[in-house]
Amino acid sequence: MMKLQWGMIGGGEGSQIGPAHRLGAGLDGAFEFAAGALDHRPKEGRAYGQRLGLAGDRAYGNWQEMLEGERSREDRVDLVTVATPNATHFEITREFLKAGFHVLCEKPMTMTVEEGEEIVRITRDTGRICAVNYGYTGYSLVRHMRAMVARGDLGKVRLVKAEFAHGHHADAADADNPRVRWRYDPAQAGVSAQFADCGIHALHMASFVTGQEVTRLSADTVSCIESRELEDDAMVNFRMDGGAVGRLWTSSVAIGRQHGLTIQVFGEKGGLRWAQEHPNQLYWMPLGERLQVIERGEANLSPEADRSTRVTIGHAEGMPLAFANIYSDLAEAIRARKDGREMDPAADLYPRAEDGLRSMAAVFAVAQSGKEDGAWLDARPPMFR
Ligand code: NAI
Repeated sequence: MMKLQWGMIGGGEGSQIGPAHRLGAGLDGAFEFAAGALDHRPKEGRAYGQRLGLAGDRAYGNWQEMLEGERSREDRVDLVTVATPNATHFEITREFLKAGFHVLCEKPMTMTVEEGEEIVRITRDTGRICAVNYGYTGYSLVRHMRAMVARGDLGKVRLVKAEFAHGHHADAADADNPRVRWRYDPAQAGVSAQFADCGIHALHMASFVTGQEVTRLSADTVSCIESRELEDDAMVNFRMDGGAVGRLWTSSVAIGRQHGLTIQVFGEKGGLRWAQEHPNQLYWMPLGERLQVIERGEANLSPEADRSTRVTIGHAEGMPLAFANIYSDLAEAIRARKDGREMDPAADLYPRAEDGLRSMAAVFAVAQSGKEDGAWLDARPPMFR
């Protein structure tokens, strides 16, 4: 089978997330890294692309050059990943979708709800795939949680509790460091800092696992470091369209916590708990029975979990492999379209433009609710009301 051609914008040398995308995309041999505009500095981007093995004429100086270069090629890239800073996602994603490319965009997909709605409309009009990299939903046991909820193991879901709380911006003495300061500056970060950066991962995971969408929310947002204009901590209560009650805590000042992404789901018949720093165990508490530990890679898990595990039981499997599962979903989605067949339902799990849009509506609702003393607000994008 021919490999799919893959291109990347952003993710240059020294970037945080570029290597995880390259590992993830390359892992199953489905994609060949064929083109890139990797850096905001054209010369460095071209040179780094060639060091990573790109042909000279496909190591582009910027995304506009890449769009022009790729659109006229017969072997043009099948999928473009956008891993640049947030404020550039909308324009790059829009232009590549309009030119007929499939796109995987980093989160947050856009800076505003209106931009998010435009991306959803373009995706629907063009029939192109626009995925959003809520990559932690790629973990095998997160997919198994979703499957357990969907097949009714927990009964009706009563509560979901999501956290994404770390302590990496807790040092007040470091708050004016330019690498930290921009994140809390509305001119550069938009209406929200910590919730838009990390909270949306946790909120999306709550929807992914329960199969329910957020309808209303109330937020308590604070800047624990006083010089910050935007929040570094938020507690968000929410309600979901299937009746679940949601609680979410996100923070960047929780000293001692590292990545801090966890999710718990409680239904009528049992509870589940999973933490991203220990991704290979899922804790299952059936009503009236003892705690059980489900191990990634065990026999007889769900098709979704089986498809998304690669290393045998007991060995570590981590974040780039979770990203690889988003890429393998996309490879299956793109191949199914090329072959004119239905895609494998166990692969139909990649987060969509609609999810990116819902996150933006939640970001604006959290920011507004925080200003209104925790008022309960509609958290749905106008398009979905
Ligand atoms: P970074 O600042 O470490 O790297 C950004 C890279 O993009 C640099 O190589 C830079 O030269 C390049 N770049 C900037 N503007 C560009 C342009 N116009 N054209 C081409 N290249 C350009 O940023 P980081 O942390 O890697 O974040 C990138 C994106 O990924 C952000 O949107 C962030 O929110 C997201 N992210 C997502 C994560 C996830 O778990 N899904 C985790 C970390 C970041």
